[in-house]
Amino acid sequence: MTTTKPPLPARPHFSSGPCAKPPGWNPDKLFIDDLGRSHRGALGKERLAYCIDLMREMLQLPETHRIGIVPGSDTGAFELAMWTMLGERPVTALAWESFGEGWVTDAVKQLKLDPTVIRAGYGDLPDLTAVDWASDVLFTWNGTTSGVRVPNGDWIADGREGLSFADATSAVFAYDLPWNKIDVATFSWQKVLGGEGGHGVLILGPRAVKRLERFTPDRPLPKVFRLTKGGKLNEGIFRGETINTPSMLVVEDAIFALEWARSVGGLKGLIARTDANAAALDRIVATRDWLSYLAAEPAIRSKTSVCLSVAGADSAFVKKFAALLEAEGAAFDIAGYRDAPPGLRIWCGATVDTADIEALGPWLDYAWKELKE
Ligand SMILES: Cc1ncc(COP(=O)(O)O)c(C=O)c1O
Repeated sequence: MTTTKPPLPARPHFSSGPCAKPPGWNPDKLFIDDLGRSHRGALGKERLAYCIDLMREMLQLPETHRIGIVPGSDTGAFELAMWTMLGERPVTALAWESFGEGWVTDAVKQLKLDPTVIRAGYGDLPDLTAVDWASDVLFTWNGTTSGVRVPNGDWIADGREGLSFADATSAVFAYDLPWNKIDVATFSWQKVLGGEGGHGVLILGPRAVKRLERFTPDRPLPKVFRLTKGGKLNEGIFRGETINTPSMLVVEDAIFALEWARSVGGLKGLIARTDANAAALDRIVATRDWLSYLAAEPAIRSKTSVCLSVAGADSAFVKKFAALLEAEGAAFDIAGYRDAPPGLRIWCGATVDTADIEALGPWLDYAWKELKE
């Protein structure tokens, strides 16, 4: 028996990174007068500074925090922060999914820092009250591979002696982040903004800047990690004078996304779009007994990278399920992350349209039925 096929989502792009381009995106709409020219010329510098200004505006980042563009996507930005700032005091690393675990590996095996590691399994959050804020603390604001996020910043001590390092790549532009609790944050444009990878964004609070100017780690630092000159922060980086050559095409793509973000109401509008998408998916999950959340507790459940369990599914079933929907043009890239328990992962960030999440529901039923029969 063949089931009737439901109407297709207009944009079946539900990948958790790189994520759907902003609605209306088209490469022809990008500003390209700065391509094929020096990024250190007047126009290049102006566009890089504009990109930084737009990010500050869309994030509602206070003047206390600097924001700069660095190489190597989110990984580059986070490792740059680890390599330049860690070692002055003890380190605590929190991990509840694959990317947090990656920073643990960096701290243990590469930097040999002997951190205190606090872990939880997929779907859970570790005990955040166990964190000692005399140490520097590494964590992921939104764990993209388990769909678990920290509920807020209340657990980050106001009077902390250590620095808080937030890998916020799938959290920025989706949640209202308490910047006074964040000393270092990193992200890449490829997530909630629907931009491209390649560049990372590094945000530094005043305490992180003090650390950089006070502390010289006992390790070699490649040029692309060097944020200080003669013991002082290289302020130019935070005005768009990048350490090395950026892709201006990627920068222009980010500017397009940020201007789109402004057109939908800035941070408030982006959060509202994410919330609406997560709520639409929630209605789908609530009405199917074969679908459930990997993160059972709503307060710690991601609103961007939503991870779902499928009753009785192993990784082979999930592979077939996702491949069927991809072949139909109904959903791209919705199989869970390779290291996570088998399941689906559906991006609900701001660049996805709620109508497309709603259209996905009947297609999930379609795949379920086809494979079960
Ligand atoms: C939480 C988290 N950290 C780090 C990364 C790595 O990001 P990038 O590939 O942009 O370096 C990802 C990518 O999915 C992520 O979700």
